[in-house]
Amino acid sequence: MEKTTRTIAPAEVERQLALCDQIAELTAQWPEQPLACVHTYGCQQNEADSEQLRGYLARMGYGFTDDPEKARLILINTCAIREHAEQRVLGNVGQLIHVKRRNPDVLICLCGCMMQEPQVAQKIKESYRHVDLVFGTHALWRFPEMVKSLLTHRSRIFQSPDEAGSIAEGIPVVRQDKVKAWVSIMYGCNNFCSYCIVPYTRGRERSRQPQLILDEVRQLVAEGYKDITLLGQNVNSYGKDLAEPMDFSDLLRACNDIPGEFLIRFMTSHPKDATQKLFETMASCAKVAPMLHLPFQAGNDRVLKVMNRRHTREQYLEKIRALKALIPDVVLTSDIIVGFPGETTEEFEDTLKVLEEVRFDALFTFIFSPRAGTPAASMDDPMPREQKLANFNRLVELQDKISEEKHAAYIGKTVRCLIDGVSDEPGFDFTARTPGNRLVRLTGQGDLVGQFCDVTITAANKWSLFGQLV
Ligand code: 5AD
Ligand code: SF4
Repeated sequence: MEKTTRTIAPAEVERQLALCDQIAELTAQWPEQPLACVHTYGCQQNEADSEQLRGYLARMGYGFTDDPEKARLILINTCAIREHAEQRVLGNVGQLIHVKRRNPDVLICLCGCMMQEPQVAQKIKESYRHVDLVFGTHALWRFPEMVKSLLTHRSRIFQSPDEAGSIAEGIPVVRQDKVKAWVSIMYGCNNFCSYCIVPYTRGRERSRQPQLILDEVRQLVAEGYKDITLLGQNVNSYGKDLAEPMDFSDLLRACNDIPGEFLIRFMTSHPKDATQKLFETMASCAKVAPMLHLPFQAGNDRVLKVMNRRHTREQYLEKIRALKALIPDVVLTSDIIVGFPGETTEEFEDTLKVLEEVRFDALFTFIFSPRAGTPAASMDDPMPREQKLANFNRLVELQDKISEEKHAAYIGKTVRCLIDGVSDEPGFDFTARTPGNRLVRLTGQGDLVGQFCDVTITAANKWSLFGQLV
């Protein structure tokens, strides 16, 4: 698969926008405004990509719906990280055949990481004949030309997945939220952890120009956004590929210097690239949220080596200690894989020891899933699934206990929280986030969404906190 990066010239994006305008002239003549249904699987990077696809669609004259039955265009942005995610996508795409039968005019489009895998694209071509368009992550910027072609010629389009990894500026966005926003600062990953498909589906690391990122953050603050997350597969290596290098800590500080009341979060960080300078920057920048998502995947050094993580358990713990020394209340989260090929139960227990020492606030836990084309997929994997599940359950049980204890420690405290939405849980009016991003449900009245308010925490469970406005 591709190894290079292509910077898309502004004129090429302009050409795509001009195609959007031509499509808008066409859709304006249809009896009613066409609606698009965009469904996103997977990570925040995919959410951010979908916001650009919606931006293009809005410019083509489409409105939006969550109901595939009402849509003239259905777009599914897929995730390839684990087999389970892929099965769900394929199941849902299969179901769309009924929608297509009822409404042959609907355009069914698939994009994202799964479509970057040649064998998946081939399977869709052969076995899912109701799908009209397939394109991978690198071709996103050319979506308008593909839609134009579909509307004009009506023949299925399969974009070759081995196009070079792209970086395009100037694509419009339609954001899903009014308080929180994602800003991609870089794309791709160079780390090749042996289990992970991302470097194959998203290509090599490429950083956006800092001025464009800062302009986007400034614009978001001016529009009233309060919670801005800088996104990348490995944000700590931001800037290494720029002509005038700027590191991630400098970028964070420059975001912090933008006037206004807002919070800056970022994800994901790789332990090998998380530096003392980063921790000092977090500690000294008031707008940078006191939280770090730092995946460690496994607690045993032999397993970490076979995973190609390039850090040891002690190096990881050392970094956590250094960060806690600067920000004692820092909220810590991590990703863990249980049942990596060859991991024994004894080695798995080293993961539990890391949990005991660090005391994460929350974890994202996964059972290893072999991904075709990655080195780990062909490694010997003798442990029976039941044993992996038993280990997984031990991990979840331990973390639940720690999360519950950590949440209970908030009770009685008053925390400045950002009210970010309306609560769907009976008895509570709003949802809010602590600076460290823990969920709070609270009662209160008025138009408070988007405001920072002091909240007294009155109760907690392992998932969230409950409170009252002060
Ligand atoms: N199997 C299980 N979990 C995986 N992850 C990535 N690849 C795999 C895989 N093949 C997990 C890692 C990563 C998170 C985003 O998904 O923990 O940090
Ligand atoms: Fe995958 Fe490792 Fe890159 Fe994260 S750092 S995206 S786990 S290869």
